[in-house]
Amino acid sequence: MTDPDRFLADFHKLRSFGAAGVGKGVVRPAYGDADVGARQWLASRMTEAGLRVEVDPMGNVFGLAGAGSLLVGSHSDSQPEGGWLDGALGVIAGLELARAAKETGGPPVSCVSFQDEEGRWGVTTGSAVWAGNIEQDKADALTDHAGIALGDARQAMDTMVTGPVDPAQFGGFIEMHIEQGPHLDTTGERIGVVTDIVGIRDMKVTFEGQQNHAGTTPMHLRRDAFQALAAFNASIEERFRNVVTPRTVWTIGHVSLHPNASSIVPGRAVFSMQWRDADGDRLKRMEEIIRDTAAEVADARGMTLSFGPMLGLEPVEMDARLRGALETGAEEVAPARWRRMPSGALHDATNVSRLMPVAMLFVPSIDGISHAFAEDTREEDLVAGLKVLDAAVQRLRR
Ligand code: GLV
Ligand code: MN
Ligand code: MN
Repeated sequence: MTDPDRFLADFHKLRSFGAAGVGKGVVRPAYGDADVGARQWLASRMTEAGLRVEVDPMGNVFGLAGAGSLLVGSHSDSQPEGGWLDGALGVIAGLELARAAKETGGPPVSCVSFQDEEGRWGVTTGSAVWAGNIEQDKADALTDHAGIALGDARQAMDTMVTGPVDPAQFGGFIEMHIEQGPHLDTTGERIGVVTDIVGIRDMKVTFEGQQNHAGTTPMHLRRDAFQALAAFNASIEERFRNVVTPRTVWTIGHVSLHPNASSIVPGRAVFSMQWRDADGDRLKRMEEIIRDTAAEVADARGMTLSFGPMLGLEPVEMDARLRGALETGAEEVAPARWRRMPSGALHDATNVSRLMPVAMLFVPSIDGISHAFAEDTREEDLVAGLKVLDAAVQRLRR
């Protein structure tokens, strides 16, 4: 039997690594001290539960229960400003299920915390490398916004690494997560069973103009990299209009202006361009618009243009059998108060689907807020999610 009190207690303990901000905020970026400390603590909890701990070269931490086990988990790194639930929920739920299975002698459940799901170095890099979506040496060359290479940063976990972890020992993967959007909270439903996860594209774009004096350089002579970025943004909003659907999203979330000073015409703008949709063709069409628009803006404004590596994941569907078990569990725990829904957020399950059947369930996010300190979910909903997961795992092992 899973123990909701023990599950919640472990959850609050995990939040203490990197607790920050107002409410239940967390700052636990991949390979930072708080992240590594949390992973050491998780490994010790896995050992106490009788699981065999293995840590792969990316720092994905597994608690193993043996061949044929179901793998349950998510990630324990956070965004630069994140909440206590994103990823952590699935990790602690996996730990509790694996522990309960050991205690009752039930069918084996293994658990995992993947590394860098939040993409300090791209998109879900820990599970992407484990699943072979990106090779280790290519991933190692990626740099974060501060210019630190993943290959250097991951040395912070060297003492924990045991070696590669064989995916063939797992029969499937289930990830529980908060919804991170408004739908369940708005309708008052308690559980979302995921049908599919959208695809994503993400790349850095650089406009290089001419750094100059902000008082003396006439407007018509400027090659202002910020103005190029502003023109690019306005233009893609316009050009996307005939291509996107209400589910398509795009974001310029990180901008670095050089030298970023009030009295200097900016000479360089480096920014992240990210877009997501459930249709791979639409992602491609958007890429064309982005590249063409950037080239036109660069031409018109005397900029040098360059693009970073194109990172991304394809849209994926959930496995029908695993998903069916979650649906049955949802109807048992929250009769008529659950729904099927797509995921607009990315998850490790996307990568893991290359290796084995995967499925996901959501619990509500209060006011639909996530990737922010204000992220939260009622504890009764966290426990309801655990119960659905437990019911599904029992059903699958029958
Ligand atoms: C993952 O956190 C995402 O950005 O969807
Ligand atoms: Mn997450
Ligand atoms: Mn996230």
